[in-house]
Amino acid sequence: MTYRIVAFAGSNSTQSINKRLVAHAADVLNDSVSGGVDTDLLDLNDYEMPIYSPERQAAGIPPQAQAFFDKIGNADALLISLAEYNGSYATAFKNIFDWCSRIDMAMFQKKPVLVMATSPGLSGGQHVHGAAMGAFPFYGADVVAGFQFGPFGEHFDVEAGCLTSDDKVAELQAAVEVLKAALDGKRTT
Ligand SMILES: Cc1cc2nc3c(=O)[nH]c(=O)nc-3n(C[C@H](O)[C@H](O)[C@H](O)COP(=O)(O)O)c2cc1C
Repeated sequence: MTYRIVAFAGSNSTQSINKRLVAHAADVLNDSVSGGVDTDLLDLNDYEMPIYSPERQAAGIPPQAQAFFDKIGNADALLISLAEYNGSYATAFKNIFDWCSRIDMAMFQKKPVLVMATSPGLSGGQHVHGAAMGAFPFYGADVVAGFQFGPFGEHFDVEAGCLTSDDKVAELQAAVEVLKAALDGKRTT
């Protein structure tokens, strides 16, 4: 059985550093699981829709929200790396979060999740990471591990597509191992 992983950055930037980080984490997971994993790296631009409002909800759930919700539902685990805007979620993610939570408040559908965050600055996404680690369990996420990456440029070599610090390599590997253990615990075949 090959695990189906849904990975995404909480960003709609085409140059997203969080997308680079989450893609790298997916590679690390792939290398850690015998037989590899099947990763679907989502782009939040594919799920752009009107900003949530109760009146719009009354008119119906947008197909983009349902599609995102269904992607989560079909996954065995989630890898998420969140961009930090003004100490919180980027709007592109928050809008999807709000819409999907109206389909089902437990929108993460009990999936094991590794929650990451990075930013260019010294705080390295710690605020949005803390927010998500606290909040996601209330929305049905089985948050098995967190990885607050810190300042992206200090620890990530963009050209090589890998981490530059041994400490971060070890931290990410440890987080991935926890996710892998959660997946193996749910293996049915
Ligand atoms: C509106 C706005 C607000 C931001 N606020 C923060 C912030 O509070 N903390 C931070 O570390 N970086 C902040 N940044 C910088 C982002 O972390 C940076 O643009 C980062 O590249 C976003 O992640 P992404 O590349 O994955 O989209 C902000 C950027 C924008 C455009």
